[in-house]
Amino acid sequence: MKTLLVVAHPRRTSLTFAAAEAFARTIEGRNATVEWADLVREGFDPVLRPTDEPDWNNPAKVYSAQVQAEVARIERNNATVMVFPVWWWSMPAILKGWVDRVWNHGWAYGGRAYPHRRVWMIGIAGTSAEAYRKRGYDDAIRTQLEVGVLEYCGIKDRRVELLYGAIESTEQAESVISDAAALGASWAP
Ligand SMILES: Cc1cc2nc3c(=O)[nH]c(=O)nc-3n(C[C@H](O)[C@H](O)[C@H](O)COP(=O)(O)O)c2cc1C
Repeated sequence: MKTLLVVAHPRRTSLTFAAAEAFARTIEGRNATVEWADLVREGFDPVLRPTDEPDWNNPAKVYSAQVQAEVARIERNNATVMVFPVWWWSMPAILKGWVDRVWNHGWAYGGRAYPHRRVWMIGIAGTSAEAYRKRGYDDAIRTQLEVGVLEYCGIKDRRVELLYGAIESTEQAESVISDAAALGASWAP
């Protein structure tokens, strides 16, 4: 399966990138190819300007060249995985902007569906699962991302996974990497 791996983190040495690499290595061993999309290094502009604003009366609107290039990158793959740190109980702005701009009306929704059957989101969470559960952050993130984005865009094989405790201890950080590899091991071609 040709997989677009979208990563949103400013630093290649981050735990987020280490988890993305562990995941990529594992699925590459299961017959997948991986095309990396390093949004920060590529300088993706997350701001939705008038050219990319949906025209609700015209699902055939032609969007900006940058959005068209992102669409082409998605369409030459057949699965999408996003790996990102949880920032303020959500995804980083650059990734949110990638969804805002690229997953546009008339292409990902609005009489259409996102072109991939499988889209997974892997969020690297700083604090513990207990802390997330205590305030309902885990349910809030799942509702927002899994129902609000993935289900809304017609994705059947959808998953939102949170790997907890990234900044709690060295052992926890290591387990985030092994959890990312374990997720990759559940990748059926
Ligand atoms: C701007 C910012 C906001 C953050 N917000 C949260 C948060 O809401 N919840 C959380 O569990 N961790 C939060 N963190 C911690 C990150 O999730 C943590 O740094 C990341 O998961 C793992 O480290 P990495 O940056 O080396 O990949 C935040 C970090 C930053 C920089």
